Amino acid sequence: MDVKTDVLIIGSGIAALQAALLLEEHFQVQIVTKSSLYMSSSYRAQGGIAAVTSEKDHIEHHIADTLKAGEYHHEKKHVTTLIEDGTKIMQKYLKTGLPIDRHVDGKPALGLEGAHSHHRILHAGGDRTGQIFIDYLLHKLSPKTKVNCYEMAYELLRNTDGDCIGALTKGQKGITRYLAHHVILATGGAGALYSSTSNYPTNTGDGIALAFRAGAAISDMEFMQFHPSLLWCENEAKGLVSEAVRGAGGIFVDAQRQPIMTGLHAQLDLAPRHITALALFKKRAAGEETFIDITNIQNFEVKFPTIAQLCYDNQVYLQDGLIPVAPGSHFLMGGVIADDKGRTTIPNLYAVGEVACTGVHGANRLASNSLLEGITFGQRMAQFIIQHGCHQKNFTHDHHQCAEIMPSLFSKQQLQQYMMQFLGIVRNVNDLQHFIQQLPSLQSLLYTNLKGLEQAELELFMMHVVATLMAHAAITRTETRGAHIRTDKLEMDAHWASRWIIFSQGQMKV
Ligand code: SIN
Repeated sequence: MDVKTDVLIIGSGIAALQAALLLEEHFQVQIVTKSSLYMSSSYRAQGGIAAVTSEKDHIEHHIADTLKAGEYHHEKKHVTTLIEDGTKIMQKYLKTGLPIDRHVDGKPALGLEGAHSHHRILHAGGDRTGQIFIDYLLHKLSPKTKVNCYEMAYELLRNTDGDCIGALTKGQKGITRYLAHHVILATGGAGALYSSTSNYPTNTGDGIALAFRAGAAISDMEFMQFHPSLLWCENEAKGLVSEAVRGAGGIFVDAQRQPIMTGLHAQLDLAPRHITALALFKKRAAGEETFIDITNIQNFEVKFPTIAQLCYDNQVYLQDGLIPVAPGSHFLMGGVIADDKGRTTIPNLYAVGEVACTGVHGANRLASNSLLEGITFGQRMAQFIIQHGCHQKNFTHDHHQCAEIMPSLFSKQQLQQYMMQFLGIVRNVNDLQHFIQQLPSLQSLLYTNLKGLEQAELELFMMHVVATLMAHAAITRTETRGAHIRTDKLEMDAHWASRWIIFSQGQMKV
């Protein structure tokens, strides 16, 4: 089946919806999403959205915190754009009825999270910020915008001039060919490549794999952020325990209730995530248990209803004030290179939100900057597309050469375990070499014909593309920086400052 539209949006998180709301006033918009509208990382975001709304705070402080947390591996001008524009957009949302939590005097109740110098986290429903924000946006979306759920994009289409002109998807009704003037990747991250993750199982990095195979430039794949506190029961991660819990007074402790972060960082439990995640990882690697002590937090169930429910659902009762936690994959700083208008290196292909790499997060994202990224760059991209319009276009699809041979792949479970083991919180050259030898070559992943595959097989293939990019980037960056921790190269190396590891047209360059 063929579907023609002006703008095709692949994905349905906050960046997708922010863009769709602006675009639908001018164009026919089609959203295609792999699962339901309620299964994005945006939807399950707990902590909130960072923005400067208090008179005690300042844009410059937020910028400085973002740069410091990310070890200065940023596109600085995009960081300024994120904080300046993002703050304005949030101030508008506050005026136009986004139901965030407020004090009795009407002022926003601002939370604190890791590596922030000021209370600046706006939140809603306690720890249901993402859900409330997405519901708010969905409520505003008009029926003009078509939404197809449970359809997975597996190939981007380019015309004979090299422009992106659409995508092939697979869903319950079979294959659909979408043709569009503008194609937006808003597919989120790749946390589900790991067995311990805060992400939904659907976050398999598809957008990055699609863009890589279409020839777009990808960067920073070595930087996967691990969140220090996932609820840990029966030897597995059960979901996120927001950093906001530590912002409200929670403390990382061991089984003897001794504080874990003492002496490790000046910001203690609110140190940047790569510091806290590593501290907990080391404790657990030494066979110790790790917890958040919540005895200092009054009315925990009222402040954090989602987390309290998650604990009860997993038979963790809160009377003794201890929540068992361990680190897990959370957010990929790398992705499809995009500018401040979402433009990728392929004409008419855009990337926005976690799938994109605009350089705003550096080597480690500052807490609660991700929803901010989605609304800011979602809006900027939409404004650019509106300005640019939809012109006469060559829709002749350039079929690229496909090889019939499928490279050998791990099972999903095996890949997730290897990712934890070889490309987890810490990495070293021997493990990475061993892993890369077993992964498919970049070239073989570029040209494999995916037409006959079922959705689960397509997903597994995409996961292998992303894992391979991550492994090559991680072995190449011979230093420790932010979330990329090399136990064989523990120092930050000036040689690597301001260097990006980029994959383009199937080749890696530094
Ligand atoms: C959290 O609530 O701890 C996660 C928020 C974020 O990833 O920024």
